[in-house]
Parts: sequence; C-alpha cells; structure tokens
Amino acid sequence: MMTRFLQITKNQEKDSKIYEEAGELLKAGELVAFPTETVYGLGGDALNCEAAHKIYAAKGRPSDNPLIVHIADVHALNELCEKVPDSAKKLAEAFWPGPLTMVLKKKDIVPYETTGGLDTVAVRMPNHPVALQLIRESGVYIAAPSANLSGRPSPTNASHVKEDLDGKIGMIIDGGAVSIGIESTIIDLTEETPMILRPGFITSKMLEQVVGEVTIDRAVANCCQTDAKPKAPGMKYRHYAPKATMTIVESSDMEKVRNYILENAKIKESQGIKVGILTTGENAAFYNTDNVISIGNRQDEVSISSHLFEALRRFDELEVDYIYSEAFDRKNFGYAIMNRLQKAAGGNVLVI
Ligand code: TXA
Ligand code: MG
Repeated sequence: MMTRFLQITKNQEKDSKIYEEAGELLKAGELVAFPTETVYGLGGDALNCEAAHKIYAAKGRPSDNPLIVHIADVHALNELCEKVPDSAKKLAEAFWPGPLTMVLKKKDIVPYETTGGLDTVAVRMPNHPVALQLIRESGVYIAAPSANLSGRPSPTNASHVKEDLDGKIGMIIDGGAVSIGIESTIIDLTEETPMILRPGFITSKMLEQVVGEVTIDRAVANCCQTDAKPKAPGMKYRHYAPKATMTIVESSDMEKVRNYILENAKIKESQGIKVGILTTGENAAFYNTDNVISIGNRQDEVSISSHLFEALRRFDELEVDYIYSEAFDRKNFGYAIMNRLQKAAGGNVLVI
C-alpha cells in the first residue's frame, strides 16, 4: 500500500483538503495516523470492526489489547457508554480535552473488536487541534492506539510513524512534534474506587482533587516486580523497549549515580561493549564518553517526557549494546516518566 505523507501547513485551504481526504479514508474503514498532545495515534473508525482488524494487523498488535476511542465532544460519552457516572462528568470537565482516558461500561454499538473483547471501552478527548478537527470533520469516533509497531517506543513525531508504518496504512498526517511525549493517564471508573491503570501527565493527586480517593492498579504500582496481571491488557507487554539491555541507576545522591554510570560505562567500553547513557542537562557535561543523550532538564519534567521515547529510538539507531539511564524523581508526573523508563528497562533498576 502507498502511504500518503501530508504536512499540516496552517494554510487553511491546503489543510482542509488534508482533513477531507483523511476523513474519506476513515469513513471507508482505512487507517490514518495523526498527532495528539501525548503521542501520535494510528486511527481507524471505532465502530467499524474491519478498521479495528486493520489496526491490529498494521501494528502487529495482539487483538486482546483494546483500543482507546477518541472523541471531540463530551456528549459522545452517552453514545458510547452504558452508564456515565458523575465522576466521569467531573473528570471530563476538569481535564478534557487532555491526556486522560476513562474506562467505562460500553454500549452495544462499540464492537468487541475495538475493546479487545471487553465489556468496557476506553474514551479520551485529545487536546490537539489536528486530532480534534480530524474527528469532527470525518464524523467518526477514532479508535487509536499509539502509531508504533507493537513493542517499539511510541512515536512522538511523524517521522517515527513513518519509520514503523510506511506502506502499511493509508495516510500519515504530520502535525509536528507532540508536546507531552508519553501516553495518557488511564483511569478505570467501573471500579468502586476509581483506579489508575496507566500513569500519565494527569497525576493521582490531580485526579483526587476532582473525584476523591483513587487507587493505582497493583501490577502497575509494583512495575515489573510482580506477577500480578495489570487490568489494562497493554501494560502487560514488554513495551517501549530499546534493543539494548538497559539499567536505571537510582540514588538520593546524584553524584554517586554519575560516578557509578561513568565508571561502569568505561569498564564496558574497554570490553568492547558499546554503551549509551541517558542523562539530563544538569549532568550531561560530566560524561566524557560517546553516545550520551541528554533529554531535558529536571526542573522541567515535560522537557524530559517529550524526549524520552525519541532517545530510546536514537539508541537503536546508534546500535548501542547497553544503556545506563539516570533515574528521575518519582513524585507527581515523574511517577509516569519512571513507569515508562522502567518498562523500557524491563524492570532493571539498580539502587545504590
Ligand atoms: O495517549 C494515548 O492514550 C495514546 C494517544 C494516541 O491517544 N494512545 C495510546 O493507545 O496510548 P495504546 O493503544 O497504545 O494504549 C492503550 C492502553 C493499552 O494499555 C490498553 O490495554 C488500555 O489502554 N485499554 C484500552 N481499553 C481498555 C479497557 N477497556 N480496559 C482496560 N484497559 C484498556
Ligand atoms: Mg501503545
């Protein structure tokens, strides 16, 4: 299949043609990748089972892993979901459009192909003008997982999507780099106490201010250190994984972390092992070795989240054998950043 690659230009006439063509593809059951504020999504008509099959096939994704349905108008909740509790209305009011996905009981119109066989459906209103306009103009609810091949880091710009899906989907809309860079927070509202199934930019503290107590899925809280089965099927797969083995080095003393990483990187290099180092602006100059990637500044967590997946892809390109990453503060949004980093490292955290 020929994949069309079209760039949003902010020229209204040109752009409206893109939305029109993309909308036609979606209505015909074809796939279109598009930007959101979190990561790029691979979109298909959420109510069309054929489109769902195509999404799973293009990504190489197991079909028991449900898709998030993207909407542009909060009233869509009533069409897609059996019961819309007050908590959902309050959360929508507080955080939509934005990086929050809610899991609710589904109505019959949502096919099991979209929900991976579950009786619940995950819904989100993204905060990105291209995503919102695409949903509105196509007139369909857009089921969209992250637009990467299954197992690869989520795409944070259109060239990442091209790397993974060129030739497999109808169109890629390039709307520039995303702002947040890690996927939305998922909250399950079918539990008696709302439960976070995947941490993201919207933190548990922010959620608690709106709906009171929330819990965190045990399997997620003990990331990679337990056999407990996560309730979001996607969280059980090895994810975001660079090809290299990766170790996260954590300590309350940053100097200790830097010394440990540099010393051990040099030992490995002397053994002919190619090492990559993931660091931040505060520490980057310390590492006088090759393949050092600085992803942001610790004072600005979004600078870190927005470059994390790109850095993991870059290490693949550099063909490093081993990656040392500094750990990040686990408070607030840092909790989600560490969740993704730990998944990339297969749970390999060294506390020193
Ligand atoms: O930020 C995001 O959420 C991005 C953008 C494109 O919106 N999308 C995204 O989709 O991350 P995906 O498919 O890569 O991840 C969806 C996650 C998976 O872990 C899946 O198992 C979970 O959501 N999920 C979807 N529907 C669910 C449901 N009904 N119950 C529990 N988990 C669900
Ligand atoms: Mg994904």
